[in-house]
Amino acid sequence: MLEIFQKAKENKYAIGAFNASNLEQLKAIIQAVKKLQSPVIISTSQGESKFIGKKQIRALIDSYKEETNLPIFLHLDHGKSFEVVQEAIEAGYDSVHFDGSELDFEENVEITKKIVDLAKEKGIKNVEGELGYLRGKSAVQEAVEIKEEDLTDPKKALEFVEKTGVDSLAMAIGNIHGVFKSAQNPNLFLDRLGEISKMVGDKAGLVLHGGSGTPEEDIKKAIELGIVKVNVNTELRLAYTEALKKSLQDNPDQTTPYKIMPIVVEAVQKVVEEKIKLFMSKVRP
Ligand code: G3H
Ligand code: ZN
Repeated sequence: MLEIFQKAKENKYAIGAFNASNLEQLKAIIQAVKKLQSPVIISTSQGESKFIGKKQIRALIDSYKEETNLPIFLHLDHGKSFEVVQEAIEAGYDSVHFDGSELDFEENVEITKKIVDLAKEKGIKNVEGELGYLRGKSAVQEAVEIKEEDLTDPKKALEFVEKTGVDSLAMAIGNIHGVFKSAQNPNLFLDRLGEISKMVGDKAGLVLHGGSGTPEEDIKKAIELGIVKVNVNTELRLAYTEALKKSLQDNPDQTTPYKIMPIVVEAVQKVVEEKIKLFMSKVRP
């Protein structure tokens, strides 16, 4: 996985990390990467991994990897405690994110470091840490104001990376989780990203959370500035629920799941394909 981040950085593209919690979402992501021949990260948050089962999604991904021969990685997204991250490591996740951003700096460093040590012992190649206050949730919501003090401080980011030894870093650079109900999502603070990139870009892979709704031009510029992984969840959730409602409305008497779900899979796949094209992670000749 770290090799893939390195390659992405050198060639200025990013790997999409798409959230999934059921087979239809997983199918949609796999069909997209199969079509576009792209590496991909499948993320499960705490709630998502609890729903699908950590061991179960591991087994499904192994089976898709065998079938497609593509680099498909399983990643724990926003693990909020040492125990949850440990469970993912034990279930065979390739990569884990410990989100200690709500803790004070020292406590965040302490738990993140403990996780890095455990991950090394178990041969996990990517531990993602988080610093800065990222607002919102992966849903449609009222607009929130981003304050300068929420953003990740570049010097603190360097200290965090050096003290913890994380392989990648999630930051707050004006990004939010989710999409706004009646306004465009905010622009990224690209200058801040540039400063962080100068400080830690050669020590850790830079991760952009809150990929949904972010202005496309900003995503392209963020990749130019060193982002190697972009997380997307809400836009996939919206495509899923809208297509499901339509499928049920159009066919009110239909009771066969495999006849109800194909348009849902197709709708999610379309979003994943658009994102992969935007992130430019298609395998190049
Ligand atoms: O960790 C997951 C992502 O940051 C998803 O953000 O729901 O805004 O796409 P999003
Ligand atoms: Zn996130």
